[in-house]
Amino acid sequence: GQAHKLQAILESALDAIITIDDQGLITTVNPAAARLFGYAAESFIGRNVHFLMPEPYHSAHDGYIANYRNTGARKIIGIGREVTGRRSDGSTFPMHLAVSEFEMDGRLHFTGIIHDLSAQKATEQALRQAQ
Ligand code: HEM
Repeated sequence: GQAHKLQAILESALDAIITIDDQGLITTVNPAAARLFGYAAESFIGRNVHFLMPEPYHSAHDGYIANYRNTGARKIIGIGREVTGRRSDGSTFPMHLAVSEFEMDGRLHFTGIIHDLSAQKATEQALRQAQ
């Protein structure tokens, strides 16, 4: 059925896909998210998404979401941005973040799609140094 199909799509995706509720608490992650950030998939659920980012984003992220809910001003939704993520070992990496929103059970939720840019950045740097 449809649910099975959706499950297969999420599980085979190369990019990390994370959904959060309107408070920033994680509701689902796919296996690529677990691989990228270095945590078991179950251990994301219910945690604030800000545990996946370094300062100053970490302290500011609840405010970013609140600001969007209060003003409707979109800084990333529908636009995307290159930001910095933080893995379980504390190391940081460049990533492209795309965010979209959806409503479920009368509440706002968000989907984040994360593309790891570290390999691309390393290649660009190597090319620059070779010139
Ligand atoms: C907004 C950083 C992950 C949902 C933002 C903003 C930044 C940011 C810089 C915009 C602040 C502004 O200019 O006002 C990050 C970083 C992440 C991350 C570094 C690294 C893991 C996520 C994920 C989701 C998400 C995975 C959703 C599942 C949102 C929402 C907003 C937001 C809903 C407010 C709407 C908007 O500004 O358009 N985030 N974010 N973020 N982020 Fe994140």
